[in-house]
Amino acid sequence: MTTVLRLTPDRPEPDLIADAAACLRRGGLVAFPTETVYGLGVAALDPAAVRRLFAAKGRPADDPLIVHLASLDALAPLVTAPPPAVAALAARFWPGPLTLVLRRSPLVPDDVTAGLDTVAVRVPAHPVARALLAAAGIPVAAPSANLFSRPSPTQAGHVLEDLDGRIDLVLDGGSTQVGVESTVLDLSGKVPEVLRPGAVTLEMLRPLLPDVRMRVAAAAAGPQRSPGLLTKHYAPRAPLTLYEGPADRVLARIRHDAGLAQASGRRVGLLLPDDDAAVTAARLYAALREFDAAGVEEIFASLPTTTDGLSHAVADRLRRAAAGRVVRCA
Ligand code: TXA
Ligand code: MG
Repeated sequence: MTTVLRLTPDRPEPDLIADAAACLRRGGLVAFPTETVYGLGVAALDPAAVRRLFAAKGRPADDPLIVHLASLDALAPLVTAPPPAVAALAARFWPGPLTLVLRRSPLVPDDVTAGLDTVAVRVPAHPVARALLAAAGIPVAAPSANLFSRPSPTQAGHVLEDLDGRIDLVLDGGSTQVGVESTVLDLSGKVPEVLRPGAVTLEMLRPLLPDVRMRVAAAAAGPQRSPGLLTKHYAPRAPLTLYEGPADRVLARIRHDAGLAQASGRRVGLLLPDDDAAVTAARLYAALREFDAAGVEEIFASLPTTTDGLSHAVADRLRRAAAGRVVRCA
């Protein structure tokens, strides 16, 4: 049985938060809103509970989890020799959509890190997440609260679509704001690398980390990969084809191909990004799930025409949803 508790997003009810925190401390699975997407939380230092979480999501055990903290103060026991940049990054971007990959301490179970010698950590900004973490008083491992390979949930209803009956509790705090997952920044190597683009962009990081760069996707399998490198991640049920190239050519080609598909009796969905990538990001995963619910059989999508803000994160998620189905228009 999954219980749903509806909270006031910006002033969550303390009694409901206390119930959810107690559930987490007992080893329960609690979905909660963050500013990016809904997370599925579990006591990070309880290996048996972490294994139940992997089972509930159908997630492969070689995909490590992000540990969510109430504040920077809770970081020290989990990591060894954090680089000096952590303090400045935390001061500038926490609470917020930035995940740091750091060398871990022996306290963090292998089940959380997939056996890696690093751990991913972040302090989320959503008032419900902050209240829950503060009340629980423990580190909370939380992947996105979707079934493996489904788009991340941005509403409590999405969580229930995937996980009803498989988890203990859902805290319904309405729609999330950012809509795509946090930026993952690896600080464990010589050069800081962004493994997954998000709302905290390279441009925003560069004043603090002049040599920061995007990691180029490696072809090899294994736990080092960021989740985004799994081709089936972020995917709707219908195949999504991504059209790239000059905007006018892309539109003409989509109109043509979608028209053909429609004429042959197929139900089609169009995903044409807004001029503001933040608007597209906020709507992206809900749109993919709406296509599924409407029985759409084929999705036609184009990339953002912008390069600022969340443009890069949106393009990254669309490419992964397309899983190689890309049409280049010249
Ligand atoms: O915005 C977010 O980050 C959301 C909310 C709930 O906080 N969480 C999220 O978690 O997107 P998840 O599990 O769906 O994606 C986290 C990814 C992992 O799949 C993993 O590849 C990467 O972060 N990651 C975690 N630990 C890592 C590590 N030690 N080294 C490299 N990458 C790591
Ligand atoms: Mg995920």
